[in-house]
Amino acid sequence: MTGRTTPVRKLQLQFEGDTYPVWIGARCLDDIASRIGELKASSLHIVTDETVGRLHARTLFERLSADATARLWTVRDGESAKSLASVEGLAQDMVRAGIDRRSVIVAVGGGVVGNLAGLIAALLFRGIRLVHVPTTLIAAADSVASLKQAVNLPQGKNLLGCFHAPTAVLIDLCHLQTLPAAQVRSGMAEIIKNALTVATENLTLLEEALSPSASYSDADFALIVEAGLLAKQKIMASDRLERRQAVVFEYGHTVGHAIELAAAGRVPHGEAVGLGMLVAAEVSFRLGRLNAAGRALHHRLLDRNGAVARMPDGVTVDAVMALLRMDNKRGYVAARPDQVAMILLDAPGVPGGPSEQPLTLVDAALVRSCIEDCLVRDVAHPKEEAKLCHL
Ligand SMILES: NC(=O)c1ccc[n+]([C@@H]2O[C@H](COP(=O)([O-])OP(=O)(O)OC[C@H]3O[C@@H](n4cnc5c(N)ncnc54)[C@H](O)[C@@H]3O)[C@@H](O)[C@H]2O)c1
Repeated sequence: MTGRTTPVRKLQLQFEGDTYPVWIGARCLDDIASRIGELKASSLHIVTDETVGRLHARTLFERLSADATARLWTVRDGESAKSLASVEGLAQDMVRAGIDRRSVIVAVGGGVVGNLAGLIAALLFRGIRLVHVPTTLIAAADSVASLKQAVNLPQGKNLLGCFHAPTAVLIDLCHLQTLPAAQVRSGMAEIIKNALTVATENLTLLEEALSPSASYSDADFALIVEAGLLAKQKIMASDRLERRQAVVFEYGHTVGHAIELAAAGRVPHGEAVGLGMLVAAEVSFRLGRLNAAGRALHHRLLDRNGAVARMPDGVTVDAVMALLRMDNKRGYVAARPDQVAMILLDAPGVPGGPSEQPLTLVDAALVRSCIEDCLVRDVAHPKEEAKLCHL
């Protein structure tokens, strides 16, 4: 870390009729506080989790409290906070504290806090202003470039939600420097996904820049975050509800979400998506669509990102297959119980299936076999393991 303040850059994201600014800088807390101040909120409600509260959100809260009525609301860390019970509990607390239609909810944290605070902002008074201050790479480079807000049900991830655009996104890249390596890799997996699906022009740069130790400078993060946001903008500019071409951003998520849910919070989202992409590449290869070089590129990129192609401890293939039946993409196409709706690539940057909605129905038996091949190593067969490692 250099300790230098990086000039704040502005990107204006445009998703059909919705547009909002993303301000990106490093060591720019004063700038963030003054932009929030400009919103002239009747009160500010900062939502964070325990870790981010300790590291960053409390400092911002203290800065904001000097000039405005502000409250700090802290949820527990992790995916389990993305629940309807959290929405109801926080909304009740905020109403008791006097939140009104001119208040602003400020989400300071990763994708979990962003989605939770986003859903509350969408629901309270049928919609109040939301500002994102993303502190994970996933949130900064991916989830803030989306209008989707949701919480989970025990049956599946993101099953309860709606669309609500933020008023602004304010990114201080130095927040990303306190992330554990696993979280940085998790975010990079989403950037890899965006490059493989819609921004192939970033693939060479990405392959060179990826650091297996997950250490990046503020300047590296600036490039990575901007590339991630622009990749999403490319497609969502004409599909703000992410129901048509933008479904492609769910690449790797069919199996990834199931693994994430089965691991019950022990596996970061992007890591699970990375495993899901390996399975999707294998399925596509076996169907004769993606060639061996395309499949090998998936393994190389994820390997350079320090990922291990292995099912997380304690997660069984049966559990993953059962959760696949709840996948929220099934509703887009009429899938039989023995089919899984997946995004597949015919080549990097070329999604398979109908261009207006790139989903392919795949036999569940094939998906199971690919999960077993890619992620379940049989220690009794070391040759198999060696083959998989050197793809
Ligand atoms: N809306 C969308 O389009 C979209 C897109 C991608 C992901 N998501 C959602 O985002 C969630 C995953 O987000 P995530 O990976 O950011 O997870 P997260 O919000 O749970 O954060 C991961 C962990 O990192 C910690 N953390 C956050 N910032 C930190 C920092 N600066 N320093 C140290 N620790 C920090 C958090 O306390 C947490 O323990 C999932 O629920 C996923 O569904 C939504």
